[in-house]
Order: sequence, then structure tokens, then C-alpha cells
Amino acid sequence: MKGVRELALVASASLAQALSTASLSAAATTVAATAGSAPLLFSYETKQLTDSVLADVSASLQNSTIASMFDFANNSTAKRSVRHSCKPMPGDLLWPVDLIWNIFDRLLGGSLIKTIPLASVCYPDWPEYDATMCATITADWLSSDLHMADPTSIMLPLYEGRTCLPSPYNYTASCTQGAYPAYAVNVSSVAQIQLAVNFARNLNLRLVVKNTGHDFNGKASGKGALTIWTHYLKEKTYYPSFKAANGYVGPAIKFGSGIQVFEAYEFAKSVGHSVVGGEAVTVGLGGGYTAGGGHSPLSSMYGLAADQVLAMQVVLADGRFITASTTENPEVFWMLRGGGGSTIGVVTSLTVKALPKLETTTVTFNFTVNDTPSPDAFWAAVGAYLNEFEAYVDAGTYGYFYIGASAYEIGTTYAGDTDYYFRMESFVAPNMSVTETKALLAPWFNTLDSLNVSYTPWYNHADNFYDAWVEAFPQEYVGTDVVKTASRLLPRSVFQSDDLRNQTWAAYRDAVNQGLFVVGFHISGTGIAVEPPTDNAVLPAWRDTLSHVIVGSEWNFTSSWDVIETSSLFVTEWMDVLREIAPDSGAYMSEADLIEPNLQDAFYGSNYPRLYSLKQKYDPSGLFFALTAVGAEDWEVRTVDPLPYSWNNNGRLCPKSS
Ligand SMILES: Cc1cc2nc3c(=O)[nH]c(=O)nc-3n(C[C@H](O)[C@H](O)[C@H](O)COP(=O)(O)OP(=O)(O)OC[C@H]3O[C@@H](n4cnc5c(N)ncnc54)[C@H](O)[C@@H]3O)c2cc1C
Ligand SMILES: *[C@@H]1O[C@H](CO)[C@@H](O)[C@H](O)[C@H]1NC(C)=O
Ligand SMILES: *[C@@H]1O[C@H](CO)[C@@H](O)[C@H](O)[C@H]1NC(C)=O
Ligand SMILES: *[C@@H]1O[C@H](CO)[C@@H](O)[C@H](O)[C@H]1NC(C)=O
Ligand SMILES: *[C@@H]1O[C@H](CO)[C@@H](O)[C@H](O)[C@H]1NC(C)=O
Ligand SMILES: *[C@@H]1O[C@H](CO)[C@@H](O)[C@H](O)[C@H]1NC(C)=O
Ligand SMILES: *[C@@H]1O[C@H](CO)[C@@H](O)[C@H](O)[C@H]1NC(C)=O
Ligand SMILES: *[C@@H]1O[C@H](CO)[C@@H](O)[C@H](O)[C@H]1NC(C)=O
Ligand SMILES: *[C@@H]1O[C@H](CO)[C@@H](O)[C@H](O)[C@H]1NC(C)=O
Ligand SMILES: *[C@@H]1O[C@H](CO)[C@@H](O)[C@H](O)[C@H]1NC(C)=O
Ligand SMILES: *[C@@H]1O[C@H](CO)[C@@H](O)[C@H](O)[C@H]1NC(C)=O
Repeated sequence: MKGVRELALVASASLAQALSTASLSAAATTVAATAGSAPLLFSYETKQLTDSVLADVSASLQNSTIASMFDFANNSTAKRSVRHSCKPMPGDLLWPVDLIWNIFDRLLGGSLIKTIPLASVCYPDWPEYDATMCATITADWLSSDLHMADPTSIMLPLYEGRTCLPSPYNYTASCTQGAYPAYAVNVSSVAQIQLAVNFARNLNLRLVVKNTGHDFNGKASGKGALTIWTHYLKEKTYYPSFKAANGYVGPAIKFGSGIQVFEAYEFAKSVGHSVVGGEAVTVGLGGGYTAGGGHSPLSSMYGLAADQVLAMQVVLADGRFITASTTENPEVFWMLRGGGGSTIGVVTSLTVKALPKLETTTVTFNFTVNDTPSPDAFWAAVGAYLNEFEAYVDAGTYGYFYIGASAYEIGTTYAGDTDYYFRMESFVAPNMSVTETKALLAPWFNTLDSLNVSYTPWYNHADNFYDAWVEAFPQEYVGTDVVKTASRLLPRSVFQSDDLRNQTWAAYRDAVNQGLFVVGFHISGTGIAVEPPTDNAVLPAWRDTLSHVIVGSEWNFTSSWDVIETSSLFVTEWMDVLREIAPDSGAYMSEADLIEPNLQDAFYGSNYPRLYSLKQKYDPSGLFFALTAVGAEDWEVRTVDPLPYSWNNNGRLCPKSS
């Protein structure tokens, strides 16, 4: 008998050959036949794992036990018998031995990475220790570029367990793997995603999908997990006239799911258009952002990112690659536009509406309490802004602002300081000239003037959205573990009622006085230029929203877990005031509180029962898991840090006890 090592080589050659010679599968054939209602496959999507490829692998391996690790899941009758059990971790008897990982890597064509924490280069007891590398990553630690280019690093290491950070950001004097996954597949083909999905499902491994790692609750981490890393799925295609299954006929762009906001905006500009994307430079467009809804400087004009999607390509939990649209796999299409990332499949691409290029004006300014005659004048200036929310949203504009009083935010003294500041990070007026924007702002600015507030607005204008955005939205800092946030969507009725608007204003004042900070938006999930689709899973509360507001607490790098627990509970409880002001609304899942009370209702609203049942249908074994994702309540992360279970990803994933 041949040695398994040799067999693996044979299998690899077989797979490589099968992939290079395999004709396009059914999905590709359908595209040609449907004359434009489904987008053409990207080159990485034509490389698929099929039954015949698996048969070749099996023949080469000559070991049915090993070959079956890569099988597709069988049909739903078989699926129903699946029982959930704890996921194995490295060191467990059920954890695959190195030989199996080697075979997996060969089948993948060498794209498996045995991962290490990014900052392990700073720790002398790690073989990877390298003082020069350490200096480099320490200097770059607050830049998202560093973390998005790493297979497992995330932007908010609190949810990983803050186990391996470079000095001075470190909580411990050591580096451990924590919730950074054990292995990652650096995918560059659909076949690799299918192999990883099948392998993880068949061996009951914890599976994580990492795109950029921006998730506010660190959903792209998981102790002892295998990660599918989608960052390099970067293809893009412009369709001047795309006939979508839902009847839309017009310009569209197909993006790989690794495309980031800045790349999407750049490409859209290059073909004379705009697209709906986030304010942030490096957030992924096609991963958690669009799946979770996706808000944008263009949302008050055109709605959410999920509303733009015309078709998607997805590897489902059973390992099969499909196209989803209003006519093909419509349930999947519904769920993945608003139901969140990491639920039933891995999105490989999405085709979105290309919007007009849009003349755009942005306005940026700030003032602190020292730029006003008194704290009362400062707060009156803030109140005058809230008075305008309805007019601003109804004009199709967006505002992204900060109110706080702390070192973290503005470089003054520590949280709780009375040196309040307000910063309009950017007021974005799409389809408006500077003159039109000034006219819209005049009532508020007149009030600021009469209050003797000193501020210097910077007006920035371009004949297209991209050029205005790129000047007004610098890349944001990430990488630290010193904040905890909670959020709420506030509906129109709050701003139409003098009393509720006043209560909201008083709540912000109270928050800042208690050492919290406020990051708010005037924004709507219903654009003034369009009717929102009614057939996606976006949280219904978004449609009536005039403001998304995030409130956060802060501590410092050396704060104990006790402090973090107390501080987290404090902000969660503080948020009750906004929950009471807007009891029938909800919270935006991608920028929300990990321990939000009645979480399913708050994040998913009336869509939840259907989302949950589709989760059971398409992912009965619970392959896809992320804290707060659909179905997450059936599982618990047995957190090893001194925190309640499921407060971060640093622990074994098990079915919920009791
Ligand atoms: C600095 C900053 C600015 C932000 N700005 C905005 C903004 O302007 N508007 C806004 O709406 N949100 C914004 N967000 C929040 C953002 O939408 C979420 O962080 C979102 O989850 C990021 O998605 P990602 O794919 O880039 O990140 P990741 O953390 O890699 O993934 C997020 C989740 O999606 C899953 N996922 C990723 N890719 C796939 C895929 N291909 N298939 C299936 N599941 C997948 C992951 O498993 C994870 O559960 C911002 C966040 C940060 C940190
Ligand atoms: C197949 O592989 C498994 C796992 O490595 C091994 O235990 C088993 O003996 C092999 N079977 C044959 C027939 O070689
Ligand atoms: C699926 O069914 C086929 C035969 O119908 C079997 O060979 C294969 O092992 C099954 N796969 C799994 C994962 O149960
Ligand atoms: C599904 O599985 C059942 C039971 O294993 C089998 O009888 C049936 O033929 C399968 N159907 C398909 C479409 O594979
Ligand atoms: C952080 O790392 C530095 C350098 O290794 C070390 O001196 C310091 O004690 C660490 N901080 C904590 C809180 O352990
Ligand atoms: C991941 O794959 C891409 C090609 O798709 C390659 O450029 C990159 O260097 C790889 N990264 C790692 C860490 O292996
Ligand atoms: C942009 O504004 C013009 C009027 O200035 C209007 O005719 C047009 O419909 C607007 N475009 C959108 C997308 O709202
Ligand atoms: C603003 O300043 C002017 C002149 O300095 C003063 O007369 C006026 O009372 C001030 N108004 C407020 C509200 O402080
Ligand atoms: C605040 O505005 C002033 C101009 O009035 C500008 O110089 C300064 O950089 C701004 N500060 C911040 C933190 O935005
Ligand atoms: C808002 O609250 C302030 C201070 O509590 C009060 O003076 C004012 O009358 C209130 N306004 C409305 C419209 O209720
Ligand atoms: C850090 O936070 C702790 C409480 O967690 C506090 O005692 C300490 O003074 C803080 N250090 C700084 C530099 O603010």
C-alpha cells in the first residue's frame, strides 16, 4: 500500500487536474442560459468542487475514511438526524492529527495556514519572535491595514480575549493563541471554500469566516476554529445594463466578497457611478457589512447596502455552490440581505445596483465647551441639531457625529471630564451643491451663531461621490480593547415629539456627564430617491429610522476583567433610557451590544422566526456560528476569561447547557 503522504500528493495532483480540466458546473451553465439575469461567474468561481472531483480525490486517496472528510452533506432527510455537540479543540482526541491537516492542505493546493497571533513576534517565548517585526506591527497596530492583511487578526481584540497584544496595548505579559483561530484557509477559489466547509462540517470543527475583521463584536474570531479567509476574493465587473431577476434593468457591478469599501467606491467612480458602501475606508463590502444591512453616507438617499443587491453567489453549509436571486434560491437571497454574516453560507460575490455618480458636498467642523459661553450653550447647540434631524434626513443627507469628553476621543483629559466636545465628522449632502448645503444648514448654524458658539465649517465638494468621500473620511483607528458599545435606532416619531426629542437630548447630556461617549448618525434606512425592497431580511425598524446612535464606555489597557464587566453592564443598562424612548425600534446588529437584552428581537425584529427556521433548514448541523448571529442562542462559548459565557470568543463552543 502506498504511504498516506504519497497518496495525499496524488490526491492533490488529481484535484489540481480536476480543477483545471473540470468544465463549469451547473451554476456556470445556468448563467449562459439565463441571458443576463444571473451574473457571469468570476474566474475564482469557475473553480468548483463537484461530485466528480470528489470521486477522483477518493480514488487517489484509496482511504474512504479520509476521503469522506471532504464529502458534501447529504440531503435534508439525512440532515435532520444531526445532533449538536461541543466542537473539538487542538489537543483533543477528536482534533484532526497533523497528517489529516497535511492532506487537507494538499487538496487546497497549499493555501492552509497554521496561524499564529499577529503580535506573537513581540514575545521571546514564541519561535516567531522578531524584534524588528515587532517594532513594525507595534507602530501600525492602530491601523486597520495591518489587521485586515492577517488571516486571523481582528480590529477589536477584546472579543478575542486580549491574549496577545504588543506593548503598550497589552493586558498581559504573555502571548497566547486565545480566540485567534488555529488554522486559516487563504481562499482564492470557490473549490477551496467548499473543501473547507465540508471538512469543518464533517469533522464538527468550529468554523469562522473572516473577511476584514471589522466586526464590532469580534464575530470573525473563535477559539480552536478553522477560518475561511475571504480577503483576496477581489474580482469586480461592471455591467452597463444588467437584467436582474427582480425586474431591475440598469447598470450594476459585481464585486468579490473580499472587496472593501474604498475599492468599491474607486471602481464605481472609474465606471462613472457610485455604490452604497460604509463611511469607513476598509470595511468589507460583501461580507458582514451587506449581510447585516449596511448603512452608508448614501443611505438617506438610496437605502441600505442590502437593498442594492441583485444577485449573490454562495457556498452553503452543505458545501454546494449556488446563485441566489429573487428567482433562484430566493430564501437564501432573502436571508443573506439583512440576516447577518456567518449564518448559512459563505458569500463569494454579490451584484449590486450602480447608482449615478452624484455631485456631493461634505461639511466637517467641531466645537468644545470652551468654544461656547457655557455648558448650557454647548448643549443648546447639540439640541438645535436634533431639532433638524427630520429635515436633514428628508433632504437625503447623512451626518456622522461624536459627543464626548475624554482622552480617547479628543486628547483632553480622562473620561468624565467636563470639557465636552462635539465633532461633526462629516455631514454628507449627496446631490447638493455647497450653496444648497449651506441653505439646508442655515437654521442650525444661525442658532449656533446666536448662542455664540465658535466653529469653522470646512466645506468640501466634488462632482462625484467618491472624490467628496475620500477627502472627508480618513481611515479610523482600530486595534485596542478599551471600549464597549451599545446602540439604538431612533424612529421618526422620536424627533416629531418635542418631549421624546428632549428626552433624547437629555440622555446624551447624562451619558457624557457619566463618562460615556456618543457616536451618532442622522440617517434613514429608507432612501428618499427609492422605494425600499420588501423582500429582504433587513431589520424593519431601519425603515422608519432617523438616527442610529452608539453609546460607549471606556477603560484603559491595564484595566482588569472586573472593570470591563462592570463597565460593559453599565453601558448596557444605561441604554435602557433609549430603549424606553424607542421601545418598538431595535438596534443595528453590526454596531450593537453583544449582551443586548432580547437580542433576537432587537437585531432581527419580526424577521426572526423565519430567519431561525431557515437557519435550521440550510445549516442543520450549526456549522456557521458567530456570537449574536441567527441561531447563536443555541450555543455558548465557554469563555475562559473571568467573564460570563459568550461574552467573548475565547472558549470552547458547545451546545447551550440546560
Ligand atoms: C471602523 C469601523 C467603521 C465601520 N463603519 C460602518 C459603516 O459605515 N456602516 C456600517 O453599516 N457598518 C460599519 N461598520 C460595521 C461593519 O458593518 C461591521 O463591522 C461588519 O461586520 C464588517 O464586515 P466585514 O466582512 O468587513 O468584517 P468581518 O469582521 O470579517 O466579518 C463580519 C461578520 O460577517 C461574517 N462574514 C464575513 N464575510 C463573510 C462572507 N463572505 N460570507 C458569510 N459571512 C461572512 C463573519 O463571519 C462575521 O461574522 C464599521 C466598523 C468599524 C470597525
Ligand atoms: C484510512 O485512514 C485512517 C485515518 O488515518 C486510518 O485509521 C485507516 O487505517 C486507513 N485505512 C486504510 C484502509 O488504510
Ligand atoms: C452521503 O451519502 C453517500 C452515499 O449516498 C455516502 O457515501 C456519503 O458518505 C454520505 N456523506 C455523509 C457526509 O454522510
Ligand atoms: C435523500 O436521502 C434519502 C435517505 O437517505 C434517500 O432515500 C433519497 O433518495 C435522497 N434523495 C436525494 C435527492 O438524494
Ligand atoms: C506589556 O508588555 C511589556 C513589554 O513586554 C511589559 O513590560 C508589561 O509588563 C506588559 N504589561 C502588562 C500589563 O503585563
Ligand atoms: C493569500 O493569498 C494571496 C493570493 O490569493 C497572496 O497574495 C497572499 O500573500 C496570501 N497570504 C498569506 C498570508 O498566505
Ligand atoms: C438631484 O437633484 C435634482 C434637482 O437638483 C433632481 O432633479 C434629481 O432628481 C436629484 N437626484 C436624485 C437622485 O435625487
Ligand atoms: C453673544 O455675544 C454677544 C456679544 O459678545 C452678546 O451681546 C450676547 O449676549 C451673547 N449671547 C449669548 C447667548 O451668549
Ligand atoms: C476642530 O476644528 C478646527 C477648526 O475650527 C480644526 O483646526 C481642528 O483640527 C478640528 N479638530 C478636530 C479634532 O477635528
Ligand atoms: C426640554 O427640556 C428643557 C430642560 O429640561 C426644558 O427647559 C424645555 O422646556 C424642554 N422643551 C420641551 C419642548 O419640552
Ligand atoms: C486605568 O483604569 C484603572 C481602573 O480600571 C484606573 O485605576 C487607572 O487610574 C487608569 N489609568 C489611567 C492611566 O487612566
